[in-house]
Amino acid sequence: MPAMTVSTASDPRIELCRNADLTTRNTLALPARARLLATLRTPDAARALACDARLRGEPRFVLGGGSNLVFGSGSALFDGLVVAVDIRGRRLLAEDAEARYVEAGGGECWHDFVCWTLAQGWPGLENLALIPGTVGAAPVQNIGAYGLEVAERLHALTAVDLRSGDTVRFDNAACRFAYRDSVFKREGWHLDGRYAIVAVTFRLPRRWQPLTRYADVERELAAQGIAQPSARQVADAVIAIRRRKLPDPAVLPNAGSFFHNPLVDAAVAAALAARHPDLPGHPQPDGRVKLAAGWLIEHAGWKGRDLGPVGMYEKQALVLVNRGGATGRDVRALMAAVQADVQARFGVALTPEPVFP
Ligand code: EPU
Repeated sequence: MPAMTVSTASDPRIELCRNADLTTRNTLALPARARLLATLRTPDAARALACDARLRGEPRFVLGGGSNLVFGSGSALFDGLVVAVDIRGRRLLAEDAEARYVEAGGGECWHDFVCWTLAQGWPGLENLALIPGTVGAAPVQNIGAYGLEVAERLHALTAVDLRSGDTVRFDNAACRFAYRDSVFKREGWHLDGRYAIVAVTFRLPRRWQPLTRYADVERELAAQGIAQPSARQVADAVIAIRRRKLPDPAVLPNAGSFFHNPLVDAAVAAALAARHPDLPGHPQPDGRVKLAAGWLIEHAGWKGRDLGPVGMYEKQALVLVNRGGATGRDVRALMAAVQADVQARFGVALTPEPVFP
């Protein structure tokens, strides 16, 4: 049955589609369908959805840019309601001597938003250029790259509780951010479709210093002969590095880093370093050490290696790519094979970064 917009919702603000194709809504391009797909274009529509008697009780999943998802690893049909947040808008909310407070709608494209802030002359997000996904999804997994995490710039966010219809404000502390983690993941709200993140406010400090300690960024700027980069130049360096190392999902479908960089106890890290002196490890404030998952995968023999229609990318072993025609089950099979080999060889457990709805 072809997808069609229907009006089973009792509120005209809710755009509802039945039997919707999700293949183009996930950057791994995995085939999947949703029994119901609701598109929210305003916070009001999110509140109306929560109050809609006919939709209450449906299993739910909230979709951002689809860049961190593995659809169809069980059934190819999501037998419930997928909620796509397409709430736009960006504006300067307030400014004082210390900072600018900039707000964006949850459905804004993250990279476009970063570029817009830079064009306004408001630095602060440049290290996070070219990360796929939406503004509303960014805090859920606390996106990070090149020495910066969104947690360091997020002031507060507004979410609509899709169970009660309440509008809830989460300040930075309430988000309980950690490495690729937040309260939304820890409480499992990202899996049960609890909240639609409708707006996010960023605090961009006025006393700006470029963050160029990350070796790749330092090297890229040095190669271009730039000693004191502008924010735009940092963004351009980050974009150049990402384009070189990471596949463009439009060309080679992928979900960015497929595994977290594992955190291990200092004793485990020391034992591994004794046997593998070139294994990159970063000591954390809590005493644990963050190991490079890409290195572990490469040295377990998976860099550039395929299993069926999926493989670990040849230029960055941490990225799982769909070479064409893959399903969620193929992704799950490769994930399990890589996890088993890294465990057997290094005794380290890898956990996936994407969500499996
Ligand atoms: N490495 C290898 N082999 C590989 C890949 C990496 O030996 O195939 C080594 C590198 O030589 C380097 C270390 O692993 O010493 C780290 O690699 P890199 O700097 O490329 O970054 P990463 O740790 O693999 C993380 C994020 C990326 C982010 C980059 C840059 C995670 C899970 N991933 O990758 O985020 O762009 O740092 O900051 O934290 C994402 O989450 O989707 C993502 C792309």
